[in-house]
Amino acid sequence: MANDVCFRTRHLTTPWSLESYESVGGYFVWRKILKGELTPEQIIETLKLSNLRGRGGAGFPTGMKWSFVPRNLPGDKYVVCNSDEGEPGTCKDRDIMLYNPHQLVEGMLIGCFVMNAQRAYNYIRGEFRLPFHRVENALQEAKAAGLMGHNIQGSGITAEVFNHLGAGAYICGEETALLNSLEGKKGQPRFKPPFPAFSGLYSKPTNVNNTETYASVPVILQHGGEWFLNLGIPNNGGTKIFCVSGDVEKPGNFEIGLGTSFKDLLAMAGGVRGNRKIKAVIPGGSSAKILTGDEMLALTMDYDAIGKAGSMLGSGAVIVLDETRDMVEVLSRLLDFYDEESCGQCTPCREGSGWLARTLRRILNGQGEMADIDRMLKIANQVEGRTICVFGEAFAWPTQSYVAKFRGEFEHWIAHQRSGVVNLDSIRENI
Ligand SMILES: Cc1cc2nc3c(=O)[nH]c(=O)nc-3n(C[C@H](O)[C@H](O)[C@H](O)COP(=O)(O)O)c2cc1C
Repeated sequence: MANDVCFRTRHLTTPWSLESYESVGGYFVWRKILKGELTPEQIIETLKLSNLRGRGGAGFPTGMKWSFVPRNLPGDKYVVCNSDEGEPGTCKDRDIMLYNPHQLVEGMLIGCFVMNAQRAYNYIRGEFRLPFHRVENALQEAKAAGLMGHNIQGSGITAEVFNHLGAGAYICGEETALLNSLEGKKGQPRFKPPFPAFSGLYSKPTNVNNTETYASVPVILQHGGEWFLNLGIPNNGGTKIFCVSGDVEKPGNFEIGLGTSFKDLLAMAGGVRGNRKIKAVIPGGSSAKILTGDEMLALTMDYDAIGKAGSMLGSGAVIVLDETRDMVEVLSRLLDFYDEESCGQCTPCREGSGWLARTLRRILNGQGEMADIDRMLKIANQVEGRTICVFGEAFAWPTQSYVAKFRGEFEHWIAHQRSGVVNLDSIRENI
């Protein structure tokens, strides 16, 4: 419980209600702002001190991002929350919206004050019907309590949050595709620069953050930047929600201090299913390069450690694969997803994802040839760095790393037209 930041209402019976949220200190910071007791500069300084890094994937420092928005520029500014959460394995933003929606709303309202924006939009993944309704209900409660709207409580501050339900496209999680989609256009990424901070929604200055990022803000401002920093380790401040899935006994979301060992996180998830050996781990969502079980067991869960090991912490989706997993099958499953979800705008991504997906299916159908392995690497290398957004990398990196770390399994499939994983079938029958 001591580490609960985004999940700080979870011990309550109806954690999503305004009453529950206020009972744990909710809207304390927002009320302070309405009374004129906090300035945008103080908030940015506290966020910088806290070392909060964006929880959507890239880990960009939030205080710095907020300082980029030209708040004194005349005209509209916008605050946008990325609740698209499409990265396979990630399921934390859904839980924040389900169980602590007011904290997200408060974080977005604080963002409006700092960025001098009057409107904020929460872009929610199309399939998230219940989370959408929970946030919708929180917005109604906040409005009825006089916490948002026009000239709130006579403070001179006008700020309102609106929900927007997407239509279930993974690419709309990329921030500029999301902005296009919000504008009613086809959800395809824009070239950067210009960055959203200068030209975002309707070409106006816009701040885009992830759900967990905004939801962390009220607690940081309530307890102080240093307090949050000390929940983690230097350069990796605070807590982070890790979504542990795959071959573990108790999959779930765990909010823990950054810098906690992977071994401890694995233990919280009940360890590897059936006490099997751990084979590999996807440490930060399906786009992250895969690490072997042995590599992971020596690591701590923070941006620097996972980055140094050659992968990324990403969205915090930790997918554990045990010794029964066939890595060719796993990669094939992933590539089918990326092939399906490529928006088609950039040729290397549109064609490359299809070529890779079809090559893998051919190998699994027993029609692969040895040259396919290097051909796959060549395609992945040609895609990397040649697309408007990093969707290209999102499938090039897994391809490169699965082949680099488990090449023998690809060779076995091609040479014998079956999996090289020992006793795969008999082990599966016993699951
Ligand atoms: C293909 C693709 C999908 C993405 N999906 C998400 C997503 O579902 N949620 C999210 O917060 N960020 C996602 N991102 C990252 C966003 O573009 C952006 O970096 C993030 O919302 C910034 O918020 P943060 O600074 O709080 O991390 C995605 C990026 C790419 C390239």
